[in-house]
Amino acid sequence: MSRLIIISNRVSRPSKNGNQGGLAVALSQALRESRGIWVGWSGEVTNNFTGHIGFAEYDGVKTATIDLEEQDVDEYYNGYANKTLWPLFHFRIDLAEYARDFEGGYNRVNKRFAETTSPLIEPDDIIWVHDYHMIPLGQMLRDRGLKNRMGFFLHIPWPPTRLLVSLPHHTKLVSSLFAYDVVGFHTEEWLESFRHYVEKEMGGKVDGDFVTVGDRTIQAIACPIGINAEEFADAAVSDAAKDMYGQVRASLQDRSLIVGVDRLDYSKGLEERFNGYARFLKDHPEHHRQVVLTQIAPPSRGEVESYRDIRATLDSLAGRINGEYSDVDWTPIRYVNQGYPRDKLAGIYRAARIGLVTPLRDGMNLVAKEYVAAQDPEDPGVLVLSRFAGAAIQLRDALLINPYSSEEMSDAINRALAMPLDERKRRWRSMMDSVETQDISWWRQTFTERLTAAEPIPKEAAIA
Ligand code: G6P
Repeated sequence: MSRLIIISNRVSRPSKNGNQGGLAVALSQALRESRGIWVGWSGEVTNNFTGHIGFAEYDGVKTATIDLEEQDVDEYYNGYANKTLWPLFHFRIDLAEYARDFEGGYNRVNKRFAETTSPLIEPDDIIWVHDYHMIPLGQMLRDRGLKNRMGFFLHIPWPPTRLLVSLPHHTKLVSSLFAYDVVGFHTEEWLESFRHYVEKEMGGKVDGDFVTVGDRTIQAIACPIGINAEEFADAAVSDAAKDMYGQVRASLQDRSLIVGVDRLDYSKGLEERFNGYARFLKDHPEHHRQVVLTQIAPPSRGEVESYRDIRATLDSLAGRINGEYSDVDWTPIRYVNQGYPRDKLAGIYRAARIGLVTPLRDGMNLVAKEYVAAQDPEDPGVLVLSRFAGAAIQLRDALLINPYSSEEMSDAINRALAMPLDERKRRWRSMMDSVETQDISWWRQTFTERLTAAEPIPKEAAIA
């Protein structure tokens, strides 16, 4: 069995309470089995980049991390990754900033990863690079002579061609993807946009999963990420989840809970969600005092202005809606800026009659799947889901809405609250089947099997 080398901006480590995200759990398992390494940024800043690699081992998973300089973090992480690519790839060209320094910093940091990582890689290793922070890394590793099988997975949407062309040097960035053997997206929609770009802007040819530009043919596939459904369903009945469930239910005094859980990010549609909920309160006075929306939104990427702006907007919007509708013993929105460990979250999901997952654009969205997995099969809640989340392709039995329409959101909340038990059960069963079948192990195996089977670059080949 070949060793697996995972490279991503963030390296997953268990948090203080031992909880890990689903991606971390799945990849850690593969790394343990193959005695592989997870490579990434330590999250630390150094005054002087030396290329020193910090090695550690957590629960049988080896990690190798590097520190970055402050300028690196500014230009690569805050800059090109989160001020340029993130908004552009989420269809927000109005928020995208184009600066040469950002692009320079992004390439410099990717080169730093290529330089520090390549000595760790053995000829038979399989390399799997993740997400928009690291698009050119594969090319940079090839430039250093590596002929290993290499895959790339994009965890966010791929934008339509007419938006992507607004990025300076867009062809250079997309060309670098052709250094990989397999490139994965969550959905057919993102995959189609990628193919369209390659055909229109690069004169490429598409033949099924194979995409050719010049003399290089790669596989481009749609492979939706999942969660560890079994583990999440178990977490929802753990002691920590039961405690949380009890605490939440007691605080509700028989009111119905609507829950949203998102990183505080403009792509999550939180402003639109609050407005949709306010519309529901306006349209349905009969539900006043009967519902509570708990929005959990841990702050994210606070160095980036658009994230500080959305935080300020939501603070005032939540205040305004609560000011308008609250009573001495009822607050319609509980807006919480902290995160919770997975098992507690699972308890909160289970206590909620409605899961409100309404991003304006999302590569996949795992909260939607976790909400489903955490439900009580005998009395499941209803998922209200944005059509523009990748997850909407699989979770057809959610109440699918356009998150920009406060009327659709209001109607869906009303419908979910009134939904009879047998319809809730039927919808939940069908969504749970999908969550269980295309789970995180399925995702990992599907991608890595493709990669393992890919035609290797001949050892004697010259590399462009
Ligand atoms: C998204 C991205 C991930 C990223 C995560 C958290 O899910 O696809 O690559 O790690 O957000 O964002 P952060 O900037 O805190 O790493």
